[in-house]
Amino acid sequence: MIVLAACSKGAAKPPPAAEQHEAAAPVVTQGDVGVPLYQKLCAQCHGADGKGYKSDHAPSLVNPTFLASATDDFLKRSIALGRPGTAMAGYGKEVGGPLEADQVAAIVAFLRAQVKTTPDRMPNVAAGSPERGKALYATNCQKCHGDQATRGEAPMLANTNFLQAASDEFIAYAIVHGRPGTPMEAWGMKLSDQSLGDVVAYVRSFASPQQAPVGELPPPTGKEPLFINPDGKPPADFKLTADPNQKPRYVSIDQVKKALDQKRKMIIIDARPPSDWMHVHITGAVSIPYFEMKRLDEIPKDAWVIAYCACPHHLSGIVADELQKRGYAHALVLDEGILEWHRRGYPVVAAQGVTPPPADPSAAASLHAQPK
Ligand code: HEC
Ligand code: HEC
Repeated sequence: MIVLAACSKGAAKPPPAAEQHEAAAPVVTQGDVGVPLYQKLCAQCHGADGKGYKSDHAPSLVNPTFLASATDDFLKRSIALGRPGTAMAGYGKEVGGPLEADQVAAIVAFLRAQVKTTPDRMPNVAAGSPERGKALYATNCQKCHGDQATRGEAPMLANTNFLQAASDEFIAYAIVHGRPGTPMEAWGMKLSDQSLGDVVAYVRSFASPQQAPVGELPPPTGKEPLFINPDGKPPADFKLTADPNQKPRYVSIDQVKKALDQKRKMIIIDARPPSDWMHVHITGAVSIPYFEMKRLDEIPKDAWVIAYCACPHHLSGIVADELQKRGYAHALVLDEGILEWHRRGYPVVAAQGVTPPPADPSAAASLHAQPK
């Protein structure tokens, strides 16, 4: 909570002489408007200070080389449209998120205010050969960034929304200058201009323009039935795991899948922004996002409730915490999250064209359940 307020004033130039007499009242900048929005919606994964990695895979948003190379348009698109198939939801109203365009802009202003950067000169990107780039990528990049089929710990480059928002120059800049203080090192001295062009061309080839545009399910109405199998018996034999010094609350996807097969009575809550629910959700799951939990009032106290998200615990944890605070005895968190559920082919309702997310070998590290 500390640094933020102090840094959020930005680098305002002194006003021109004619306006100076009006400048006495404290100036509320757009960045100030962005602070509470950022803290409420983004800090869970990107950290209160924006440095990332609070929840797995969420990168830094305030790295100097990132902010010096990312245009406002790149930032706004990334926030508004998200990165489907990852934990990054679309936050813009236009895709079913909570934010108006000016609120997205306010968050961008807040991010910009954290680190003073000016737009840097962008590298020239030589026309490259994706075939040559492929070999370079396999040796140097794949272990962190993965490819279309498998993700790594670093941001997914094989993501349509990323590739639509990122220019060749933005991609090349990240490669040349790296992201100091993160595992992304600067490759500028190690790659020739031609090799740089080749790698960029290969990354670009991850986009598949022939892929059918992904559709959307209708937005949640808030009237979807809460209970799955309202006439069934409650789950019988969940074996829960726990964080240190906490009450056990993590339930594995295999156990929940089995409970569904046994027609157990329960509530499954999708804690992500509704934009993600509209993309794909567990069959029967209700949308109760972590930032708007009104529908919890409707849930009877003895219900078995399982919340999930993609990250895979942070947003579902907020909903489970709230239920626990209100005295619910069975407020659980789906341990592996929805991405793994979807990968396994467990029942989902998905918009047209939505495919299971790429494999994630690193995901097991953050889990509580014993993998079996
Ligand atoms: C050791 C792991 C690692 C390796 C190897 C690596 N990267 Fe990265 N890369 C990262 C991480 C982590 C980030 C995000 C850093 C941050 O938080 O800003 C990143 C960021 C990027 C970005 C910016 C993505 C975005 O959305 O902002 C690009 C582009 C990129 N890397 C390309 C490459 C290429 C091409 C290579 C091979 C030449 C490579 N990286 C090698 C870990 C790695
Ligand atoms: C549930 C966790 C989560 C939340 C909440 C979240 N993000 Fe993200 N965000 C991610 C992840 C993960 C990525 C990287 C996508 C990937 O895995 O490839 C990302 C990527 C981004 C990027 C692109 C960064 C880059 O280097 O390309 C921006 C910008 C961003 N997020 C901003 C935000 C903002 C602003 C908010 C709040 C409105 C927010 N995020 C909320 C997890 C989250």
